[in-house]
Amino acid sequence: MNGRGDRYGAAMLAVTAQRFSPDDPVSALEVGRVPDPDVPDGWTSVSIRATALNHHDLWSLRGVGLRAEQLPMVLGCDAAGVDEDGREVLVHGVISSPGWRGDETLDPGRSLLSERFPGTLAERVAVPPANLVPKPPELSFEEAACLPTAWLTAYRMLFTQSGVQPGGTVLVQGAGGGVSTALIALGSAAGYRMWATSRDEGKRSRAVELGAAQAFEIGARLPERVDAVMETVGQATWSHSLRALRPGGTVVVSGATSGPDPSAELNRVFFLGLRVIGSTMGTRDELERLTRFVVRTRARPVIDATYPLADARSGFQRLASGEVFGKIVFTT
Ligand SMILES: NC(=O)c1ccc[n+]([C@@H]2O[C@H](COP(=O)([O-])OP(=O)(O)OC[C@H]3O[C@@H](n4cnc5c(N)ncnc54)[C@H](OP(=O)(O)O)[C@@H]3O)[C@@H](O)[C@H]2O)c1
Repeated sequence: MNGRGDRYGAAMLAVTAQRFSPDDPVSALEVGRVPDPDVPDGWTSVSIRATALNHHDLWSLRGVGLRAEQLPMVLGCDAAGVDEDGREVLVHGVISSPGWRGDETLDPGRSLLSERFPGTLAERVAVPPANLVPKPPELSFEEAACLPTAWLTAYRMLFTQSGVQPGGTVLVQGAGGGVSTALIALGSAAGYRMWATSRDEGKRSRAVELGAAQAFEIGARLPERVDAVMETVGQATWSHSLRALRPGGTVVVSGATSGPDPSAELNRVFFLGLRVIGSTMGTRDELERLTRFVVRTRARPVIDATYPLADARSGFQRLASGEVFGKIVFTT
C-alpha cells in the first residue's frame, strides 16, 4: 500500500515508482491503491482500459528523468480508454506547456506523462482535452495502447525524420523492442526494404515473419549499404550503424538502451556526409495519422504478453529480462 493512498483514501489501482534503483529497477515499483489524479482546470480525465509498458518506465525506476522529491510517481506513458463523454480514445502522452503552438516535441517546457504529471499505469489519467485522439473501432484497446509512445516514436523516425522514400533500405538495430517491432511493421507496410539486427536468433526469425526482408546478427557485414539506420540501442550498435550507411545516409536516433556514450566517429560522419538526426516521441497530428495508417494497412502492434494491471510486476520483470518481442500490455 502506498503512503498517499493511506492518507487520502484509496481510490484507484496504479503502479508507482517509490524510490530509485539503478541496478534492480523492478524492486523500486509498487502496485497499490492511490488517490485519483487531480484534474486541473480545463483538463479532462480518461478511464483507462489498456496501458502499455515502455523502457521509459524502467529508466524512471532507475532514476533517469525524475527527481526524488517527485516520488511517488505514477508510471506509464501509454493509454487507451474511455473519456468523460463515453468516447473511446487514445491518450497522447506529450504534455505541452500552456500556450505552446507548433511541434510539441520541440517545446522546451514539454513533459511526458509520468515525468511531471501522473502517468497511465493506472485506472485513470488526467490530460488536456487536446491530448485525446479518437480510437478507431478496428483496433482493440490493447492494440491502441501500444501506439502513443513506441509506435508514434517509430512513425516519426521513419516517416518524418529519415527522408527515405518507399523502396529504400532501412536497418533497424535491435529487432525485439517495442520501437523496433513498430519500425519493422510500419516500414514494411509502407514499402521500405526493412533489415533488422538482433542479439537473439529467435527474434531474428520473428523479425522476418513481421516483415523484415532480412535479419542479421549485431555487427554483421550487410549485403550492401543502407539509406538509413534506426537507432535505439546506442553504444552496442552505434559504430555498426555508421558503417552500415551509404554516403549521405541518415541515422535517426531516439534512444540508447545499452548506453549513451559511444565514440562519435566524427571522421566517418563528415567524410561520408552522414546525417545524424535526433527524434523524440511525435506530435498529436502524427499520432492521428498513425492511427489512420494502421487501420488502412492492417499493420498491428505485436503484443508479447498481456497482464492484469494488478500483476504489473510480472510484466516489468519480463521487459527487464530483455526477452520481449513486441509490447507488454496491462489491462484494468
Ligand atoms: N526518445 C523517445 O521519444 C523514445 C521513445 C520510445 C523509446 N525510447 C528509447 O528507445 C529505447 C527502446 O525503447 P523500447 O521501449 O522499444 O525498449 P524495449 O522494448 O525494452 O527494447 C529494447 C531493445 O534494445 C535492444 N537491445 C537492448 N540491449 C541491447 C544490446 N546490448 N545490444 C543490442 N541490442 C540491445 C533489443 O534488441 P534485441 O533484444 O532484439 O537484441 C530491443 O530491441 C529505450 O532506450 C527507450 O528509452 C525513446
